[in-house]
Amino acid sequence: MAFALLYLICFILVAFSLPCMYRHSSNFRKCVFRLITHCKKQSIWFNKIPERTIVWSANRDRLVTQGSKVELTSDGQFVLNDARGNQIWYADSFRTGVSHAAMLDTGNFVLANRNSTYLWESFDQPTDTILPTQTLNQNGILFARYTETNYSIGRFMFSLQSDGSLSLSTTTFPQHSRRTDYWSTGNTDIGFQVIFNQSGLIYLTSKNGAIRKTISPTPVSIEDFYQRATLDYNGVLRHYVYPKSSVGRWPNAWSTSSFIPSNICTAIVEKIGGGACGVNSLCRLDDLGPTCHCPNGYTFIDPNDVLKGCKQNFVPQSCGAGSSPETDAFDFQEMKNTNMHYLDYELFEGLHEDWCRQSCLEDCFCAVVYFNGDGVCYKKGLPFSNGVIDPSVTGKAIVKIRKDNSTLKDGSANSKNKDDSTLISVGSVLLSSLGILNFILPLITYVVVSRIYFSKAEVVQPYQVMTEVNLRYFTYELLKLSMNEMRIMNAFIDFGGYKYIKINKAIKLIL
Ligand SMILES: *[C@@H]1O[C@H](CO)[C@@H](O)[C@H](O)[C@H]1NC(C)=O
Ligand SMILES: *[C@@H]1O[C@H](CO)[C@@H](O)[C@H](O)[C@H]1NC(C)=O
Ligand SMILES: *[C@@H]1O[C@H](CO)[C@@H](O)[C@H](O)[C@H]1NC(C)=O
Ligand SMILES: *[C@@H]1O[C@H](CO)[C@@H](O)[C@H](O)[C@H]1NC(C)=O
Repeated sequence: MAFALLYLICFILVAFSLPCMYRHSSNFRKCVFRLITHCKKQSIWFNKIPERTIVWSANRDRLVTQGSKVELTSDGQFVLNDARGNQIWYADSFRTGVSHAAMLDTGNFVLANRNSTYLWESFDQPTDTILPTQTLNQNGILFARYTETNYSIGRFMFSLQSDGSLSLSTTTFPQHSRRTDYWSTGNTDIGFQVIFNQSGLIYLTSKNGAIRKTISPTPVSIEDFYQRATLDYNGVLRHYVYPKSSVGRWPNAWSTSSFIPSNICTAIVEKIGGGACGVNSLCRLDDLGPTCHCPNGYTFIDPNDVLKGCKQNFVPQSCGAGSSPETDAFDFQEMKNTNMHYLDYELFEGLHEDWCRQSCLEDCFCAVVYFNGDGVCYKKGLPFSNGVIDPSVTGKAIVKIRKDNSTLKDGSANSKNKDDSTLISVGSVLLSSLGILNFILPLITYVVVSRIYFSKAEVVQPYQVMTEVNLRYFTYELLKLSMNEMRIMNAFIDFGGYKYIKINKAIKLIL
């Protein structure tokens, strides 16, 4: 029995498809987790799009094209092939007799044999998210996605190293190796496992089970909330919660229960690398998280990818031996509570600020001066890094900009608007990308062309759902696709939070 599932394109994703009850109001079972494909085909615009949150994906960096397919072959291989039949991704289950695939209530997608032994689990290969009951073992890594809407591997990682230290780190891109830690347990806490348990706590344990470090300290009821911990594209690890029904003050959306580090803008100070927001940019912690800004005279290299940093928007100062120093052509923009740590190429002490400014004006390498108020000034060239706007910074940055923008090469400065602050916040960028999001989400959402059949399977879940119950439970939707259901396939399965309640009841009945 070989199941060939034709995909319009793409790559496999497991999504938290929460409000799918809108579509299946009479059937809560078809909710919460689904294995879907990411489709690029033109599609119908849904007015009410169920919110989808992707919690796992395969093949992050190589999107496949139209005509690709996923197959569970008769010899038990679960593979993703492109249109030409080249294998793009496969679940490494060692051909040990996979008889079925199933999505468990926890969000774990498993390949199991007839004895219901798991031969492969998506929980063993996390992408950027862990879910309740999931653990991260030594050498386990979460990689942030590239941007909010691009699921490729991005620029931050959360890893439990083999020496037992747990850290959040920047990475080299695109090699994805660890560069600078900005949150770490250090190796004094010998960590063995990161556990996201069913009380909604996330913590690092040692081998004997003792808690070495708490990551998300507030218990959150798994019966009342969907939960996930995601390393966001901007490097913040957040424990997100989503109420299953209206619960007190919680909105019907993902909100944050806790996050680390407490201030990523000040936490990331690296000698190599651009810092939290990339080179030439400034990071500021706002209520909703870090936002990136460009100083006056600078703009984002790519407004849809603000972590790429900012570029100078004016013709740089001339440096030639014969040319005039252009000291009259430049001016300064003062930014309070702002610094760009490291990479100073000159330092003066005991001098007046005016002297520093003049010195920078006459120096074609000088892009910014940091003046700490105690008569110490630092000269910085381009690109500057680790830019931060924060009340803890007592000094000010003085950014050198060209007075006359008309000399701009690309002429874009003709659209001057004096009322507009040139600080462009990530917020506005995010807003503008919502349009894109609205376009992509329905694409992700709308793929249900074929129907999927679910049936009971005897897949044994290794975790007890309730703390007081010491029982294994059975249930679980087994993926079963007949040859007739082979057209464009979207959803394998569902599973999830709702069923916790049902299962708990079932267990109580058994008891
Ligand atoms: C399944 O279990 C039976 C009985 O325990 C055993 O004989 C058999 O080898 C197992 N099969 C697989 C594929 O593990
Ligand atoms: C996502 O970002 C990566 C890294 O820059 C890029 O190679 C890839 O093309 C992007 N994917 C999409 C769908 O834009
Ligand atoms: C989760 O961990 C905390 C701390 O170890 C413990 O008190 C709680 O009982 C655990 N919850 C479950 C469901 O195991
Ligand atoms: C040049 O641009 C800056 C920032 O956009 C603006 O504040 C300044 O007034 C402009 N200068 C001229 C001469 O137009």
